[in-house]
Amino acid sequence: MIKKILIFLLVLAVIGGICALVHQLKVAYKNKTELAAFAQAETYTANLGKVLVVYYSWMGHTQDIAEQIAALTKGDTYRIQTQEEFKSSPAFYARIKKELGNKIYPPLAGEMPDVKGYDTIFVGGPVWWYTMATPMYSFLSQMDFKNKKVIPFSTQGSNPGSFLEDFKFGAKNAQVSTYANFNNVGPEYNQAVHNKIVHWLNNL
Ligand SMILES: Cc1cc2nc3c(=O)[nH]c(=O)nc-3n(C[C@H](O)[C@H](O)[C@H](O)COP(=O)(O)O)c2cc1C
Repeated sequence: MIKKILIFLLVLAVIGGICALVHQLKVAYKNKTELAAFAQAETYTANLGKVLVVYYSWMGHTQDIAEQIAALTKGDTYRIQTQEEFKSSPAFYARIKKELGNKIYPPLAGEMPDVKGYDTIFVGGPVWWYTMATPMYSFLSQMDFKNKKVIPFSTQGSNPGSFLEDFKFGAKNAQVSTYANFNNVGPEYNQAVHNKIVHWLNNL
């Protein structure tokens, strides 16, 4: 009996491993195809006025994109920070899933940014469980973007889910402009990702 259970578990593990591998290969192919379109460098020509780049980033990917936007637009940055320092663990994923389901969002640290003097405000963050990361919900609930042009962006493994729809719903009174999302990709794509950012900004 124990032998049968062990064989069953082994078969499950092998099937799981194959599924994960197929998923990884599909994502890698999709990234390659998408970023091939951004092989050519483009000169930044946009004029977005006075720019503020607001972002939340737990692991640094969104921060990287935010800093590139700020450097190109000569904008200011504002980093959304939680009072609690989130520690990485498998339990963290389960906790966030539960909190999203129960609409529990973490208290933020520091003052909210004063957006009065800005013409264009970028707001970006990671995708967590197919929607915005919980600190993004905390942030949006405290902001009013009346008469402001707000441009959302996200970073994710491969699936942004309903990030944009949820952002539009949460960003009160904002004039939401063209969203861009960025998959986590390896350093071999750094230039293509940069080109994608420039192309997006030039076409806003
Ligand atoms: C709790 C949690 C849930 C996540 N859910 C998703 C998801 O639904 N879809 C996806 O493509 N990536 C998902 N990711 C991966 C992150 O979106 C991705 O790594 C992101 O670029 C991290 O941004 P950061 O480095 O700025 O924190 C998840 C990550 C975490 C921590």
